[in-house]
Amino acid sequence: MENNETGGWIDPALPLCELHRHLDGNVRVATILDLARRHRIELPANDVETLAPFVHIDDSEPGLVAFLKRFEYLVAVLADDDACRRVARENVEDAAAEGIDYIELRFSPAFMAERHGLDPRAVIDACAEGVAEGVAATSVKVALIGILSRTYGVDACMRELDAVLDRREHFVAVDLAGDEAGYPPALFRPHFDRVREAGLHVTVHAGEAAGPESVWSAINDLGAERIGHGFRSAEDPELVQELASTGIGLECCPTSNLHIQAVERYADHPIRALAAQGVRFCLNTDDPGISAVTLAHEYSVAAPAIGLDRATVRRSQADALAMAFLSDIERDALVRKAGARS
Ligand code: ADE
Ligand code: ZN
Repeated sequence: MENNETGGWIDPALPLCELHRHLDGNVRVATILDLARRHRIELPANDVETLAPFVHIDDSEPGLVAFLKRFEYLVAVLADDDACRRVARENVEDAAAEGIDYIELRFSPAFMAERHGLDPRAVIDACAEGVAEGVAATSVKVALIGILSRTYGVDACMRELDAVLDRREHFVAVDLAGDEAGYPPALFRPHFDRVREAGLHVTVHAGEAAGPESVWSAINDLGAERIGHGFRSAEDPELVQELASTGIGLECCPTSNLHIQAVERYADHPIRALAAQGVRFCLNTDDPGISAVTLAHEYSVAAPAIGLDRATVRRSQADALAMAFLSDIERDALVRKAGARS
């Protein structure tokens, strides 16, 4: 989307960065149909218009776990490594079409592998190849984050981590996602000790389906440098102070939060109060294949509906770059690229 279509909410002189997008939460409806045809997988509809309502969320689902059930059709078509490669490549193409300069794409190898009994290590290789193909064809810079799917339990997450660390070179960070309320962060302390020992960054889904205690634990037990969502931090003034003073930033995904009914209306989103208290944040899409949003939507529709002013949104665009798991040299290159086009 061009900036003139976003009402000036995206500053073209700054790099546009997305730090929280699930690669396995962003499969095009047309790709689901095509892969289903190739692999003879049955779907409830046979064209884009009629399948879209099964895949996209139009209103909301009661809670995170119900929302995650929407992934059904996305993973149903990951029938082989080629399918994973294609989905990864298309994620980069989608980012390019949205005008994104830098994107951190995250995925759970075990979740992608489960349905068709794929090898999680082969899934990682296929995703890395697909991303490399996408990068070669576009000007998007991409980094990968490995997800541990907490819903599968502590032992399965350790095996998933083994796969991620076997392919350490493909990743900049590890995340913990899935059923947050059922699996508190502290259960995964041994996992994240290994993540940090391997020199990888840490971001953790917390303060979305559980309260501020989950954010404290993500920071103190797992060493989180950023928090996925984290908006429930607003319930604990001491935590708000901690986030503001340490610069641990929130990866805010406003429309996704509405879709799991964690927030009733954009105007009720706690990020406005958090930002006003000095908490760093950036705007993201989370699962565009389910929520049917673009990053431009989060900047130009969600952010103003939340009540964020232009200066705050511009600062969040700059903070996305500051929060990115990049070296200063890589950050400077993105700043120069944005400067050259404006
Ligand atoms: N996996 C995909 N989207 C997620 C979310 N919003 N929270 C936790 N895990 C997820
Ligand atoms: Zn997420």
